[in-house]
Amino acid sequence: MKKFGEKFMLGAATSAHQVEGNNIHSDCWVMEHLPGTTFKEPSLQAADHYNRYKEDIKLMADAGLNTYRFTIEWARIEPVKGQYNQKEVEHYRGVLNFCHKNGVTPIVTLHHFSSPKWLISEGGWESESTIEYFRDYSRYVVSELGDLIPYICTINEANMGVQIKRVMEDFMTQGESENKNKPEHGDVQVGINMDMSVVEEYYQSLGVAFDIDPRQVHTFLSPRSENGDILIMKCHEAARRAIKELKPAIQVGITLSLYDYQALPGGEDYVQALQDEDFLHYLPFIHDDDFLGVQNYSRKVYGPNGKVEPNENTRTTQMGYEYYPESLKGVIELVSSHWKKPIIITENGISTNNDEERVEFIERALNSVHECIEKGFPVIGYTHWSLLDNFEWQLGYSKAFGLIAVDRITQNRYPKESLIKLGDYRYQEI
Ligand code: BGC
Repeated sequence: MKKFGEKFMLGAATSAHQVEGNNIHSDCWVMEHLPGTTFKEPSLQAADHYNRYKEDIKLMADAGLNTYRFTIEWARIEPVKGQYNQKEVEHYRGVLNFCHKNGVTPIVTLHHFSSPKWLISEGGWESESTIEYFRDYSRYVVSELGDLIPYICTINEANMGVQIKRVMEDFMTQGESENKNKPEHGDVQVGINMDMSVVEEYYQSLGVAFDIDPRQVHTFLSPRSENGDILIMKCHEAARRAIKELKPAIQVGITLSLYDYQALPGGEDYVQALQDEDFLHYLPFIHDDDFLGVQNYSRKVYGPNGKVEPNENTRTTQMGYEYYPESLKGVIELVSSHWKKPIIITENGISTNNDEERVEFIERALNSVHECIEKGFPVIGYTHWSLLDNFEWQLGYSKAFGLIAVDRITQNRYPKESLIKLGDYRYQEI
């Protein structure tokens, strides 16, 4: 086994809404409880990480991991527009201090899909005012906690709304019979439920819940318009400027969901268009960033007639997409040919109930990372998704991405073999 260099950040990632529990001021919480909700179940207590973060960070550190990527949840910090909650700031101060005490470098995400409910009522992720709101929240977090934060990812998977729009459009143009077997859509990275039978009722109740026209409900995981796409990048830029003004030493970046798009002869134009939409057109907005967060789970193959669907022999994960750990290599190579600053693999992982598959996945994915580093690509860290089995958005608790299993009744933790195996890759003095 090839170990990483001394300074390499090796760890695991979570997001607040997926693990903390009781994120009651968030838009997700609202949507999970609506009549006709598209969420298969509500997040409720999640993995109770809010109360058990010490145990979780300790398990990670004991396994040899030195980095933890987690979210400071906007809906907790600013549950009401303009009113910051000091008690929640102190909670996250506790998490950050505990990381440092245990030799774990924190990478903080300021927004990971869930938003404060009020933000959506104000127009959400298609409204210009969000630029100012996000900047102010970012500035506040850094003014309070900046001394404890070495790395910030402003926005998680800034391109997810664009990917969701693409999948929705494909879904609408495909025949009913083609779609009915895949309401859990393997074509989009994140857990969304495409069971259209419930959508109409849900849609109406959304407008009531956010007290606006349902057509104006724009959460982070809503299909994104071209304007909305650029707006998100403006939020990022405004936040980066605010952070740097206060604490220039904090390393700031954004994260993108990137598939390894591979072209068979004749599929090159599809691949080029997708790489542009998912990555290349963001380059001007991230030019002044310190690092790029790369998130990758699989590949997609394109031929002369578009996407080549996996066949019955293709090995797939619980999420429905191809089991292909080497996709990480393709993505790092693509990114490195356009981006010369540090890269952190902020997410990479697999949903499976068979932990041996995860162990194999980690081994193959990390071999790819090693190969890339040997070629001189500036990969400085890898945080596996995810530290804990958690709430996979609209698909609820049915997917197991964790290095640690969580008993949903007792909230007891059960570290898996994959946690130990991942820790083994950490640099050790011989
Ligand atoms: C998201 C996570 C999600 C993971 C697995 C990523 O797109 O950032 O929140 O749980 O993929 O689907």
